[in-house]
Amino acid sequence: MKTIIEPFRIKSVEPLRMTTREERRAYLAAAHYNLFALDSETVLIDLLTDSGTSAMSARQWAAIMVGDESYAGSPSFRRFEAAVRNLMPFRHIIPTHQGRAAEAILFHLIGGPGRKIPSNTHFDTTRGNIEATGAEAIDLPAPEGLDTAAPHPFKGNIDLGLLEAFLEKNAASVPCVMITVTNNAGGGQPASLENIRAAATLAHLYGKPFIVDGCRFAENAWFIKKREVGQGGRAIVDIARDMFADADGVTMSAKKDAFANIGGWLALNDDALAERARARLIQTEGFPTYGGLAGRDLEAIAQGLAEIVDEDYLAYRARTNEYIGERLIALGVPIVQPTGGHAVFVDARAWLEHIPPLEYPGQALACALYETGGVRACEIGSVMFGRRPDGSEHPAPMDLVRLAMPRRVYTQSHADYVVETFAEIAAIKDQLMGYRIVWEPPALRHFTARFELLPGLMA
Ligand SMILES: Cc1ncc(COP(=O)(O)O)c(C=O)c1O
Repeated sequence: MKTIIEPFRIKSVEPLRMTTREERRAYLAAAHYNLFALDSETVLIDLLTDSGTSAMSARQWAAIMVGDESYAGSPSFRRFEAAVRNLMPFRHIIPTHQGRAAEAILFHLIGGPGRKIPSNTHFDTTRGNIEATGAEAIDLPAPEGLDTAAPHPFKGNIDLGLLEAFLEKNAASVPCVMITVTNNAGGGQPASLENIRAAATLAHLYGKPFIVDGCRFAENAWFIKKREVGQGGRAIVDIARDMFADADGVTMSAKKDAFANIGGWLALNDDALAERARARLIQTEGFPTYGGLAGRDLEAIAQGLAEIVDEDYLAYRARTNEYIGERLIALGVPIVQPTGGHAVFVDARAWLEHIPPLEYPGQALACALYETGGVRACEIGSVMFGRRPDGSEHPAPMDLVRLAMPRRVYTQSHADYVVETFAEIAAIKDQLMGYRIVWEPPALRHFTARFELLPGLMA
């Protein structure tokens, strides 16, 4: 098979700044070992997130120039609305400045003390927004999603048996059922069309709206096309439409599968709920034809949505992760298999088995990647999810390190460099030690927590 190449050529470049290991060690200490606190100019390969980090196309930049900045009734909004509705056919499309703003509006309206919201796995901002209203965010991932090494094609599925039992017991307190596609916190794994439809049917059986967190809908649609029986010959656009056909709403971050650097939306079918959402939008984001965005952002999103469903792009996107994954496996690094849509997830708990979960093996690996190679990754484990709303601390189900791939940004030689950094760490991995948290905020602690190195790191 020939190499699946980047299906674009480069017109505009950004320089990368090289740093020495000694410099990076000092930067890490100054950042209290929290990689979110680093100056990004000190990072060589930034795999912290795929969110808002896409390279926009020439057509997106051109679309920005025709953005109409009228406060109300902008034609840029009409183009945005049409592009969204082409893929997600909902009655109401409400722009927001990013995905979490759509979540905040929705849960302000339907959350509240005593409410419980089940999903395959809530992402951290979704969980944060639900819990901020006093409601409970419940994760019901399918069991294969918790086995990092099992090569199941749809490890992002929701556990339908658990969902049914949950609804049976708690129906009165459930304002909606959710599913996240792909399942970011669960390894960037897809949910099948069959599972999405069955979850919607169950929700409706209990009279509950079904809401899709659609941030990575195109990657999910790609995996459905490649892995689900009977879907192989279908267009991505049609699969995407089917993913939303049985849903009552969507929360969306345009910073992922819309190739935009900012933006999001809340899509709803319920007229009354949409009216309340727009009233809240005006209070917190802006007028309903711009949300928290500029007209030019709406144009970039509209064009991005036309490009994200391109199959050559999606093939290259999935292959990038597969390529890195194959090489990490060859080095003996345990990863979540198969590789996900937007990232490679390394099982830090399994690789650094000498570091207990509450000494944060994911954080230890993420810091080692930065110190060794200037590669910035993100802990998705006990730092991110370990603190409960009641103040207690428990290990997360998994301690992963996410190597998130910005869209259309890095090339195959950047990928090779990341693998070489892992090879260097593999030689000294048993010397890595854990961390303890010396300060943390009341919620979403991973963004700002300060860490202290436990003795012995990198002896
Ligand atoms: C699955 C999922 N939902 C919601 C969000 C929140 O989106 P935003 O960062 O635009 O607020 C993210 C962001 O990473 C995400 O991955």
